[in-house]
Amino acid sequence: MTQKLFEKYNLSGLELKNRMAMAPLTRCRAINGNIPNEIMAKYYEQRAGAGLIIAEGTSPSPNGLGYTNIPGIFNKQQAEKWKLTTNAVHKKGGKIFLQMMHTGRVGHNDNLPEGGKVIGASAIAQNGEIKTYSGERKAYPIPYVLSTEEVKDCINEYIESAKLCVEAGFDGVEIHSAHGYLPNQFINATSNQRTDEYGGNIENRCKFVLEIAQKMCKAIGNEKVSIRISPFSYADGGIEEQEIIDTYLYLVKELDKLDLAYLHLSHMGEPQEVKFQLWKKIRTIYKGTLMLCGDFNKETAEKALQENQCDLVAFGRDFIANPDLVERFKNNWQLAERNRTEWYGNGASGYTDYPFYKTK
Ligand code: PHB
Repeated sequence: MTQKLFEKYNLSGLELKNRMAMAPLTRCRAINGNIPNEIMAKYYEQRAGAGLIIAEGTSPSPNGLGYTNIPGIFNKQQAEKWKLTTNAVHKKGGKIFLQMMHTGRVGHNDNLPEGGKVIGASAIAQNGEIKTYSGERKAYPIPYVLSTEEVKDCINEYIESAKLCVEAGFDGVEIHSAHGYLPNQFINATSNQRTDEYGGNIENRCKFVLEIAQKMCKAIGNEKVSIRISPFSYADGGIEEQEIIDTYLYLVKELDKLDLAYLHLSHMGEPQEVKFQLWKKIRTIYKGTLMLCGDFNKETAEKALQENQCDLVAFGRDFIANPDLVERFKNNWQLAERNRTEWYGNGASGYTDYPFYKTK
């Protein structure tokens, strides 16, 4: 039986050399004013063996830089510096999308540049604490609530940012609507109690992300737009099971109309049967390219492809420690250990210093 994992794939006209994607991973190496740099370009270049790289969550707005040292793509300087990465990856024959991540209420004012604000759909703080530049962990603040007009401005920031992504040489954009980030904050009634057109019923709560997706398709082309969602993630705590199912079946039906590059389903945390049942249902109603992510290994990924559960599989943590993950899978070489301590910042250490596999 031929292995599907290493087959080429036509992603809306973009030829991927295999069906393995590198998942978007927050690495906090944009240490100089949230501007991408040489070391980041090297890191992605090393991983260009992936069929598709989805570069880390990057903010479309000064308001969305809620974590320390994450990159932005909302001005020309950032776009210019992202070219280091896109050129390096393309030179190696790789393809690369950028994940657009707005932290919304999952951020802290201490981490934002001057003039930036922690914003949200409603005045409801995220539970817990967040690391700030001083090293101190602080409680998440109550976000500033966007007016209806400001919601529209925020949507426009995504669109302007998408244009910069194209200028920077990215093959496409992934809208991060998973894991409790801003679009997810609009989707969930636990963080969205608005009474305008962006709150209330499922349709209204999905409007924010659907407008972003629709406008982005018009601005840069539907074949360059994709989206990541995570039904039943940790962000969906306190929400009824049926509500989650109804919400995502509605959202996916609407996304299906847009003919996007792909839909990305992410699983982080507990493997719940209800989540995987919903994934199967989504596969039957979403006609375009489907990517799955979460705890896959070579065998389970191959099985998912053979069973037609999806078209592409994304790998996250294994790509951190194994820049040549595709070659290791192909040759059945041993994988390097996942070392969590240096995931979120520490320069080149634990970032670009993972060796390629050496055959004796
Ligand atoms: C993280 O930094 O832990 C993180 C970022 C983005 C995600 C999930 C986790 O989608």
